[in-house]
Amino acid sequence: MSDSHRHGDGPCTGPTGAAGCPLRSAQWYGGDDRNAYIHRAWMRRGLPSGAFTGRPHVAIANTASQLTPCNAHLDEIAASVSNGIYEAGGIPLDLPVVSLGETNVRPTAMLWRNMAAMATEEMLRANPIDAVVLLGGCDKTIPSLLMAAGSVDVPAVLVPGGPMLTGHFRGTALGCGTDVWRLSEEVRGGGMTQADFEASESAMIRSKGHCNTMGTASTMALVAESLGMVPRGVAGTPAPDARLLEASHAAGVLAVELVGADRRPSTFLTKGSFHNAIVALAAIGGSSNAVVHLLAVAGRLGIDLTLDDVDRIGSHVPLLVNLQPAGQHLMDDFFRAGGLRAVLREVRDLLDPDALMVDGRPLVDGLDDAEIWDESVISRRATPLQAEAGLAVLRGNLAPDGALVKPSAASPHLLRHRGRAVVFDSIEDFHARVDDPDLDIDADSVMVLRGCGPKGYPGMPEVSNMPLPQRLLEQGVRDMVRICDGRMSGTAYGTVVLHVSPEAAAGGPLAKVRTGDWIVLDIEQRRIDVDVPDAELAAREPSPEAQAAYAAPTRGWERLYVDHVEQAHTGADLDFLVGASGSEVSRESH
Ligand code: FES
Repeated sequence: MSDSHRHGDGPCTGPTGAAGCPLRSAQWYGGDDRNAYIHRAWMRRGLPSGAFTGRPHVAIANTASQLTPCNAHLDEIAASVSNGIYEAGGIPLDLPVVSLGETNVRPTAMLWRNMAAMATEEMLRANPIDAVVLLGGCDKTIPSLLMAAGSVDVPAVLVPGGPMLTGHFRGTALGCGTDVWRLSEEVRGGGMTQADFEASESAMIRSKGHCNTMGTASTMALVAESLGMVPRGVAGTPAPDARLLEASHAAGVLAVELVGADRRPSTFLTKGSFHNAIVALAAIGGSSNAVVHLLAVAGRLGIDLTLDDVDRIGSHVPLLVNLQPAGQHLMDDFFRAGGLRAVLREVRDLLDPDALMVDGRPLVDGLDDAEIWDESVISRRATPLQAEAGLAVLRGNLAPDGALVKPSAASPHLLRHRGRAVVFDSIEDFHARVDDPDLDIDADSVMVLRGCGPKGYPGMPEVSNMPLPQRLLEQGVRDMVRICDGRMSGTAYGTVVLHVSPEAAAGGPLAKVRTGDWIVLDIEQRRIDVDVPDAELAAREPSPEAQAAYAAPTRGWERLYVDHVEQAHTGADLDFLVGASGSEVSRESH
């Protein structure tokens, strides 16, 4: 349908709200009966008389919360969005939605991602809105908003809240997250006093905004723009930067235009969009968490994205961005150096040229104008930081449905490895025994942690990058092969095989591995196996200790989650939330 086709032009041929059709909100406000009266009267509250006739009603789905400090400033962004919506002729409407603060929410924010997505989806559908502007920032908020928008499929645009400015302590930049571990290690090692450690606390988070490393929040903002859901050039703009408010205003204007153009997510997000997101994910050296989120978003849109696509598309993409945790700089530097568009220009030949953005133009449009201003932060294609940066997907009798590993983060001497398993049945079991002087473990051992998948924990926490035993650290060991059915922080590194699917708690073979079994890892061949004959492995019962560690929840969201969550290799969504229900609501109670 042409972008110039507006409401009232010609016959209605699409869904309600499509060009030429009545606005979706007219189902509530249109007509002269009692119900329309009720809907209008309660919403009037000073709105001009023409507010209910032909003006798009645009929700601002806002994850602001003081308990989500990374998103606490989103009300300010919402005000700019609101101005833009009003200026373009729409009616802005605040819609507070579930917020998830990564550092606060227990047991793990990932347990609540699907709940946030479901609640947002239902409120978008239930209310008289024609479009939505999505405001997110902290790790799980952008994924949950994208999942919701994909399922409701009303016109939608996302504005990420942006990273915080770089904090400094005693002249040294602090990367939030990554440097917490560094400073605490310095205290343990005697290189820093406890008083200095505590003094650094108020310098770590210098400004509003989300984490400033290339962790999951930064990754998801950049991936969402590469997917096409964020206006070009906006993702990565620091939270305090005035240009973010300008962009937010423009996003409000765009949201109104989307209604006229009937540009819903399903009309422009394609497999090619996800292809571009995967290329970007690799080139920026983004978090492995993006994989499980992209799979879930694709599932909502009915796009056939698989783990194999992640490996095929991303694993040969060069790493161009020198940011913590793998590198040196922080998001403020990244934006100053040219940001995402400069990176995309360097890998332009790897992108799908036809994939569109929310503005209706291809992602690749205008990339010629994207300059790199600081090559110490963003490398040119000819001189990448690493030649191949993506994620590899492993399979084998330990992970029949797949597992992830980041080869560029693995130690070269461990890319092919055979070692004896040391098995931990839960994260509590791990903490209880890892530093036991009697633990039979050496540098060649393979640490196996199970019970940390979507069902097992529940919620798939970021624990896969298990700390090495103190005894081995003191011997100078810095990396070992680790295998887990959980996730790992976007700030983590090492030879870590994660997202093992199916997980132990879902009957995966990880539940049958025993301490002393030989584990064989071959990243080049994309294999992860336990060297146990098939018949013997099949005959083994799952570890009773592992079974005992899974206490099935009896009520509430955890019960619903455990009963319905899918495995990591398809995005860990709830089985009944996969796919779209659209925006139709067939009944009302008045
Ligand atoms: Fe919110 Fe890191 S804790 S983005």
